[in-house]
Amino acid sequence: MADQAPIAAVILAAGKGTRMKSALPKVLHAIGGRSMLDHVLATVGALGADQTVVVLGPDMDQVAAEAKGASIAIQKDALGTGHAVLAAREALDGFHGTVFVLFADTPLVRDETFRDMRAIREAGAGVVVLGFRPDDPAAYGRLITDSSGALDAIIEFKDANAEQRAVPLCNAGLMAIDGEVLFDLLDRVTNDNAKGEYYLTDIVALARERGIACRVTEAPADEVMGINSREELAAAEAVFQRRRRRQAMEDGVTLHDPDTVYFSADTRLGQDVTVGQNVVFGPGVTVEDGVTIKPFSHLEGTHVGADAIVGPFARLRPGAEIGTDVHVGNFVEIKNAIVEPGAKINHLTYVGDAFVGARSNIGAGTITCNYDGFNKHLTVIEEDVFIGSNTALVAPVRIGKGANTAAGSVISQNVDPNALGVTRPPHRQLDEWAAKYREKKAAEKADGKWPKPDPSTVKKSS
Ligand code: UD1
Ligand code: MG
Repeated sequence: MADQAPIAAVILAAGKGTRMKSALPKVLHAIGGRSMLDHVLATVGALGADQTVVVLGPDMDQVAAEAKGASIAIQKDALGTGHAVLAAREALDGFHGTVFVLFADTPLVRDETFRDMRAIREAGAGVVVLGFRPDDPAAYGRLITDSSGALDAIIEFKDANAEQRAVPLCNAGLMAIDGEVLFDLLDRVTNDNAKGEYYLTDIVALARERGIACRVTEAPADEVMGINSREELAAAEAVFQRRRRRQAMEDGVTLHDPDTVYFSADTRLGQDVTVGQNVVFGPGVTVEDGVTIKPFSHLEGTHVGADAIVGPFARLRPGAEIGTDVHVGNFVEIKNAIVEPGAKINHLTYVGDAFVGARSNIGAGTITCNYDGFNKHLTVIEEDVFIGSNTALVAPVRIGKGANTAAGSVISQNVDPNALGVTRPPHRQLDEWAAKYREKKAAEKADGKWPKPDPSTVKKSS
């Protein structure tokens, strides 16, 4: 394409969001583990915006801190969307190009939709408005078009007459505007309307008066849903998840029951990954080609190497680096650990703050005792090690290459390469002990000697 005009984005987020009933500012609530504001910033990044301004109210420092890479403009009083865009004027001083106005509480608009708006804008329209046809048009602004489909005006619901309210085409709120005229038009917007606000939407009629072409492009309703309440947040999450499931399958991932798999915005799955039912991808997960993730596994902050098998019921926590061909089985938790290729950790095990060498086999019920109540310590298991079932590895500790530990051992000292570490008491057998014990207990029971324990009689030590 020929030289495209530069793009600036103005993201409106000065509204209070009181309907969320939350101590957290509305636009910091997450969808797919990423804040609404971050979603919008990511879209703006994908669009290649040269400049981004986030418009906030006073006392929204927490939001400002999240708006990385953007400049912040403060709108002192929330006097309307037009007034909010005016707050960005100084930050956009000297900018020549297209200004996108986005709402931080409308985070699901796809990159393609913005590219579409951009193309229409660059083909000569001064103002491009994103429209949609909701099932229930409710209180949305109505888009008034002429017979050719060109946009004449946006009428806010409260100001609309019955005929205008009957129009099914609504304003999603997002616009792409010629930066050369935006602020001139906004200067002429008044608050002489039903809400007493400065409406951004009024710039359409003002542009038409000056003979500037205005156009509409439409998006599906679920893409432009604004989020004002927890219920709408949940609905947006559902839309996001559906989209990600479809995307994963398009990218070559098998989902055995797509509706039960949950993604984060930054989840990355390679080709021919297979995901079973009820798997949750928390933030920060990358999975390489050919991996199988069996049902009921929970992953976050994890990298899984090619052809590994994870689950069922596996929990991979932040810092788990799972190598190629590794097997992680049921009820295994791995945190901050490097697991080298071909290692097997198949049953009922906790591996935290550890290094597990290539091809090592970790027996059922192994625990790295990484925490002493104050600090975390490292467990190093070198390659080709065999850790017997129910081994407690008291960190810091190192098991040398090719060594074994005996089942049931508490290993608190290093084990040399190729040695056996064993801390088991010797085996004893007491002949007939069990039979005599049963007899004794039966006699006690007959004598009524078994009082019920009473926790309410416990006295705490001072
Ligand atoms: C707006 C549109 C309406 C559209 C609807 C779509 C206007 C006048 N109306 O109405 O046509 O159908 O969105 O959802 O634009 N904001 C500020 N400062 C303000 C006011 C708002 O930053 O003074 C921000 C809000 O935080 C929010 C966005 O602008 O992110 C939209 O504001 P909102 O009050 O929700 O506008 P609506 O009345 O829904
Ligand atoms: Mg709104």
